Amino acid sequence: MAFDIDAYRRSVTPVVVDDIDFGAFRADPLPDEVLRTLRFMHDVESHTVCYLRDLLCTSSHTDPRITTFLTMWNYEEYWHGVAIGKVLDAHGEASEDARIAPMRQRLRAKERFTPLTHVFGSALIGDDFAALHMTWGAVNEWSTQTGYEQLIKKADHPVLTTLLKRIALQESRHIAFYATEARERLARSGPVPARPPASPCGASGLPSAAR
Ligand SMILES: [Fe+2]
Ligand SMILES: [Fe+2]
Repeated sequence: MAFDIDAYRRSVTPVVVDDIDFGAFRADPLPDEVLRTLRFMHDVESHTVCYLRDLLCTSSHTDPRITTFLTMWNYEEYWHGVAIGKVLDAHGEASEDARIAPMRQRLRAKERFTPLTHVFGSALIGDDFAALHMTWGAVNEWSTQTGYEQLIKKADHPVLTTLLKRIALQESRHIAFYATEARERLARSGPVPARPPASPCGASGLPSAAR
């Protein structure tokens, strides 16, 4: 069944945190290994806009269905970063711009070329790039949701559980879009044509003597 993009865009909202008692982490802090994972997830969620920049350099940007989704997806992911930042903040750690700005400065040289790899990759793959992009997105979203589920179990902290369950619920809608689109686009793209048997004349097709 097709993903209802119109219903999705009307329901998009920042993950609700107003009723979460982040002060509880001061009395009952998270262990270092959980905080380490949260730092990573904070950065991944907060850098979604950088992935969006790269994806808009590809042929995917010509499909308004995809760009509508990406607009809403980026908005929700942004707020996931902000919400996890509140947990880091409650542990006296830098979050949001104070953490992200120096990191982006450090990665500036490498990041300068990332859009180019997407431009060339998209040009090389052609119309099937969107199928690849949707498949890549589905795998990423599944991994993210599974990561949050594992973190809930490992941390076993009631406040963190509430927050991560809400985030994971939004991730499930991202999975639904990417996976549905990937399945449909991969089916349309068809099998890769088999390579013709090697010619006795060699790769050029010309008799050896004529080369
Ligand atoms: Fe997210
Ligand atoms: Fe997501």
